[in-house]
This record gives sequence, structure tokens and C-alpha cells, in this order.
Amino acid sequence: MHHAPAKIILFGEHAVVYGQPAIAVPFTALQATADSEPTPPGTGLTIIASDLQQQLHIKDADTMLDNALLRSAQLTLNKLNVPTPDLNITVSSTIPLASGLGSGAAVSAALIRELSAAVGCPLEGDELNALVFEVEKMHHGTPSGIDNTVIVKGAPVYFIKASTRESVGAVRELYDNDPDTYQGFFEEIGAIVKEARGHIEHGNLNDIGHLMNRNHHLLNILTVSSPLLNTLVSTARETGALGAKLSGGGRGGNVIALVEPDNAHWVADAFREAGAVRTWVTTVGKS
Ligand code: PMV
Repeated sequence: MHHAPAKIILFGEHAVVYGQPAIAVPFTALQATADSEPTPPGTGLTIIASDLQQQLHIKDADTMLDNALLRSAQLTLNKLNVPTPDLNITVSSTIPLASGLGSGAAVSAALIRELSAAVGCPLEGDELNALVFEVEKMHHGTPSGIDNTVIVKGAPVYFIKASTRESVGAVRELYDNDPDTYQGFFEEIGAIVKEARGHIEHGNLNDIGHLMNRNHHLLNILTVSSPLLNTLVSTARETGALGAKLSGGGRGGNVIALVEPDNAHWVADAFREAGAVRTWVTTVGKS
């Protein structure tokens, strides 16, 4: 059985696509899991996505596949240059879909880990990361690579994308119409991330919270927040959080709030009263 965790972007989403740094951490309370069992000779590879009630079958690893699970399996078999094994792999995940928590990358990583181990060539590190990134392109077009990197590493990352300026949707439109202004916003976010790194390393909670607030303000200017996300961010601050921001792609998805442990449940309660569907409390940076 193999796993991969969810992820949270602490600082720098969107600007990371334009070459600025970003900071992300694994969120191990939520996990994708893949488990396998051998099947009789000639049955081929079946992937059972238990949460989605999907059963997928791959016999021919050469046809181009447009399903992310099948594509993960196909890339793995092609990379390892092994024939399709006779195997059932069951994939499940506690990570909510399309929530900015990296569910797609985590499911791919768990599946590739399980499949590669089952054929006797376990993939990890950069090789695994490269395959998960390939699958991520199916979901996100031109992702920065931060999701797959933090999820495969399973440790906090200070991430800088190698090539810049391949962007997503609405933010690209804004940038294309007024590159100077938006480049300025991205650089401001980049400066926040660089400052945040030092404060995270030294545990300066008030400074981290303040930078989260500033990062959220800039994401709001980039139009990737939403009325509900803004309400949740204000609610967190009013309930005593040291700072709060949206996390991930935005326009839905997640808000993260930095809280003192004693205060966590107040903020979580206030989030739900203000319209949050679910809340989690986690400690960042300690395993
Ligand atoms: O996948 P999400 O929703 O966590 O967002 C990814 C973060 C972005 O910076 C918006 C895009 C990217 O590829 O880095």
C-alpha cells in the first residue's frame, strides 16, 4: 500500500507561475492511497477508483489515454519499459476534489508508487515527480509544478519554477492586458514570500500572519478571491487569527488561517458559521 498527502500553499500562488517563489507544505491529515493485488494471467491492469465508483482497464500501454488515472499508469509502464502487469489497483482519497488541496497530484503519486513497486521498480524522488507533473498538465494545462513537488517530497518546499510566463486563465488575461502593473503585483507577492521564509524559519508568528494578510490582499487584486473567501478571511481575523489568506487557485477552494493552538477551535467554528463546508486544524512544519 502506498500513500501521498494533500498540500497547502502557504504563500505565493499564482505569482509562482510568473517565476516568483512560493512556499507549500504537505497536509498529512488528508491522504490518497493506492493498494494492489495480483490477478490471473492475461487479465491486464484494472484501476478501481473506489470514491468515484470508476473501474478502468488498461491492456495496451501505447494508446494515448485521457483519463488521469490511466495516464498515470501508462506513463509509469512506459517509463519503466515493462509490460502491462496483471493487477488490480484500488485508489481512494480523503482529499476533497478540486479544492486546491492537490487531490489530483496526490492520487497520481500514490498510484504511481503502488504500480511501480508492484512491478519491482519503485519510483520516487525526481523521477516520480516528473511523471506526476506530466499528469498534472492534464488537469491544469500549464501548472507551475508546486503541487506535485510538495506532494512527492512530503516536506515543506520553497519552490521556484524553472521557466516562467505560462499562466492560467483569468490571471493571464489581466497580465497580458497590463503586464507592467501585474508584474509589479507578482513581484510584491515574491517579496512577501521571501520575507515569509525567514519568519517561518524563526517562528515569528505575528510577522507570518501579517504577511498572509498582505498576500491575500494581492490575490484579491488578482481577482482570484471570491465574496465567500473574503468573508472567511475577515472572519478569521475577527476571531483572533494572526493572519489569513486564500490558498491555491482561488475562486472557491480554501482559506488558511494562522492561529494559536488554544484559539483554533474558535476560528474553525466561526468559519463554519460563516459558510465553510469543512474545516481542519493542523500543525505546519512538524512531522
Ligand atoms: O491547484 P491549486 O488550486 O492549489 O492551485 C495551484 C497554484 C497556482 O499557483 C494557482 C497554479 C500553479 O500551477 O502553481
